[in-house]
Amino acid sequence: MTASRDVAYPTVRRMKFGFDAQPATTRYFADGSIVFSHLVAILSAIFPPGEDIFVRSVRRYTEVIDDPDLKKRVTGFIGQEKTHGLQHRELNEQLVAMGYPTPWFEYLLGSTERMEKFLDRQYPSPDRLVKLRHFFLGFTVAAEHFTAVWAENILRSPEIQAMMSDPEIKHLLNWHSLEELEHKSVAFDVYRAVGVPESTRIRWMRFAQNFGIPILVLFSWLSIATTDVEGRRQPVRILKETVAMLRNPMWKGFYGAMTPFRRPGFHPAQVDTTELVTFWQQELFGTKGQLAGHLR
Ligand SMILES: [Fe+2]
Ligand SMILES: [Fe+2]
Repeated sequence: MTASRDVAYPTVRRMKFGFDAQPATTRYFADGSIVFSHLVAILSAIFPPGEDIFVRSVRRYTEVIDDPDLKKRVTGFIGQEKTHGLQHRELNEQLVAMGYPTPWFEYLLGSTERMEKFLDRQYPSPDRLVKLRHFFLGFTVAAEHFTAVWAENILRSPEIQAMMSDPEIKHLLNWHSLEELEHKSVAFDVYRAVGVPESTRIRWMRFAQNFGIPILVLFSWLSIATTDVEGRRQPVRILKETVAMLRNPMWKGFYGAMTPFRRPGFHPAQVDTTELVTFWQQELFGTKGQLAGHLR
C-alpha cells in the first residue's frame, strides 16, 4: 500500500497554542453566529474522545501488521491524533470558561472508553471479538473520511478562513485539518491489511452520511437550549442561523463527497489532496510559516 499514501509519514508536531493565556475575543467566535459557534464547540468537544476511539481501533492491530512502512505510518497517525486530542482539550477548557458545555459532549462520546478498555484487557487476542474490532475500525475509517472532507473544505475555502475570527482557534483548526489530510489513508490501509469486509465501512458511511449533520445540528440546538440565555431568547435568529450554517461553505459538496467512499474498491488517495497539503505545510510550517512559532 505504500504507493497510495499522500506524504512519506505523518509528521507529529508538538504544538503550543495560546488558549490558556487569553480567552477568545468574543463568545460567538465563529462568524458571530450562535449556532455555528456552538457547533464548532461541539466538534472540539467530541474530537478528543473520538480520536481516542480511532487510536484504540487502529492500535489493536499493531501486532498483526507486518509491513514496516505501514507500521511507521500508524505510529505517525497515533502521534498526530493524540496531539490533536491534547490541543483540543486545552481549547475546550477555554470554551468552558466561555460558557460552552463541552464536558457533556466529551463525556457522552468518551463513555465507550471504559467498555473498550475492559474488553481489550479481557480479550487481548485479535482473534477474539473479531466483529466488534471490525466495527470500531469501520467507524474509524468512515469518520476519517468525514474529517478529511471537512479538512479539505476548511483549507480550500477562503470564505471559511475569513469566518474564523479568533486567530488561535483558526490556527488550531488549520493545523488539525492539515494533519487530517496527511494521515487520511493510514487507518484505511490498516483496514485493508486486516481484511475487514468492505460492507462494514460502507454501512458506517451510510449512517454518517444520513445522520452525521442532523445529529450535529440537534446537538447544537441542545447546547444552546441548555446553556445559552441569549440564544434561547432568539429562536428566530437560531433558525435563520441554522439555515445559514447549513449553507456554509464548510458543508459545500459534503454529502456528495461521502458517496465515493461507499463504492467497493474506494481508497482515500483517489481524492488527490497532495497539492493542497504541500501548500499548507509551507503556509503553516515553512520558514516563515504562520505556525512556525507555535512549535514546541
Ligand atoms: Fe485528528
Ligand atoms: Fe484523523
